[in-house]
Amino acid sequence: MSNIPENFKEKIISLCKRRGFIFQSSEIYGGLKSAYDYGPLGVELKRNLMNEWWKSMVHEREDVIGIDASIIMHPKVWESSGHLAGFSDPLVDCLISKERFRADKAPRPRIGDDLPINCTDKGQAKNYQKQIEDRFEIQLKRNGKILTGLKVIDENTFGFFEEKEIPIKTFEYKGYVGPTFGSPFLSDERQFNLMFRSQIGPVDVLGQITNYVEKNRDLKSEELRKGIDKLVKESAVYLRPETAQAMFVQFLNCQQTMSMKIPFGIAQMGKSFRNEITTEHFIFRSCEFEQMEMEFFVEPGSQKKWLEYWRNKRIDWWKKFSNHPENFRYRAHDKDELAHYADACYDIEYKYPWGFDELEGVASRTDYDLKKHAENSGTKLSYFDQQKTDPDTGKNGWRYTPYVIEPAAGATRGLLVYLMDAYCEETVKDANGKETSRVVMKLHPKLAPIKAAVLPLVKKEGLPEIARKIVEELFNSGINARYDEQHSIGKRYRRHDEAGTPYCITIDGQTKEDNTVTIRDRDSMKQERIDLKDIIKIIQKKLSLS
Ligand code: GAP
Repeated sequence: MSNIPENFKEKIISLCKRRGFIFQSSEIYGGLKSAYDYGPLGVELKRNLMNEWWKSMVHEREDVIGIDASIIMHPKVWESSGHLAGFSDPLVDCLISKERFRADKAPRPRIGDDLPINCTDKGQAKNYQKQIEDRFEIQLKRNGKILTGLKVIDENTFGFFEEKEIPIKTFEYKGYVGPTFGSPFLSDERQFNLMFRSQIGPVDVLGQITNYVEKNRDLKSEELRKGIDKLVKESAVYLRPETAQAMFVQFLNCQQTMSMKIPFGIAQMGKSFRNEITTEHFIFRSCEFEQMEMEFFVEPGSQKKWLEYWRNKRIDWWKKFSNHPENFRYRAHDKDELAHYADACYDIEYKYPWGFDELEGVASRTDYDLKKHAENSGTKLSYFDQQKTDPDTGKNGWRYTPYVIEPAAGATRGLLVYLMDAYCEETVKDANGKETSRVVMKLHPKLAPIKAAVLPLVKKEGLPEIARKIVEELFNSGINARYDEQHSIGKRYRRHDEAGTPYCITIDGQTKEDNTVTIRDRDSMKQERIDLKDIIKIIQKKLSLS
């Protein structure tokens, strides 16, 4: 069953803004593409989610320890991990279809080859034919959904031909065409590294570049670019694109200071940054996001067993806080989907309104990272097990580079999942028995930003004073509560339904007579009368049971 309304984006984005979960970053300046701010409720929800992860991964396990590493690490880390090379794509845009693709992976028709543009249907072919005519002043022939008339003349030129062998018009040929449509009408290549780069130290890079360009005016632009790139790289640092690498480079420090025995894990949660080409679906894919990752170091050969163990643990954890566990599934990666460091991987997926898509990856990362860091740093990143026999020599004691299982989850993506999971539109009866609709965020009480709202029925007759005392007691017991006296009691209940507050405590005339209050359950809307002195105990019990 899916609880997601069709126009979920508008509804959830609007609720997030209305209730203070998520705002567009720098909104008063028109916003920044794909950057978001977590508002008063969003920050609580995010922290609760991440704290629950930390609790289950670190505090409730003897075999996992935590770290909190720098966001900016030594640039060699990214060289060793493959991010500097692998995260750098030469990207090109098709000027007609707007398809963006990697130049190094594109098809390369040769001199003399025809360059047909293969559209998906006749309508698209007519549209592209018109765009090409308007922009390049040539009219390609249309044969159903294929546009013809273009041919490669030499390695730098293609032309438009009608009947004769002499081209009517020529254009610059890049040596390749767009992979989907075969279009040779392309933008210039742009080197695109998904890592955000900055400079460290008091280096005047612009000054250095200016000097370099002045001294090398006769260089071709390609060579000039290489020279500038080298200059910039000398003082370049990068914002981490994943939290994982710190756990590899701090493997020895963590293992030795805490006397950890394999198998054991190192966990970290925090910000990661990727200059994503496509940012999409609200906070699903953004440039700045938070991750919750754990590297679990295991004996070589045992990785398959541990991969399955962590896959099951992790999917069960996501389901635990969900109203619709059937919306989670896992999917094994095909061989050609695997990252360069992995020998197997599962994606834990959620059924988003656009279909099943990734929420967390659980990868078997082999010994790739530890070996690479050992090789490039000169530090031995291995483990010695006295109890084991070395399989190669048959002698007692085995020194090996551990294999790694990595459950890598998106915290901000997880938050989106739980917002969607919680969103519910219901028809309910109001105080007069009339049908009305309500939006309620059925967030798991452990994740809910506010656990209890305390509402004096009226703003007089001593009720606010009693309410404030209750809030104080809740605060003192570590329960995030909120005093709320604005608007009618009905409106306040609706407001807290949308905020996902699981319990509303109302102080009314009877409270003064018999020291009782009502406690309303967000989901069932049922109200119980309870004794003032039992409030903390009851809320604590409800929160611990949920
Ligand atoms: N250390 C491995 C790693 O980083 P990943 O699949 O690239 O693997 C792990 O990232 C998780 O981080 C993803 O499953 C996703 O939940 C989250 N994530 C990755 N890129 C993201 C982005 N641009 N915006 C939001 N979340 C992202």
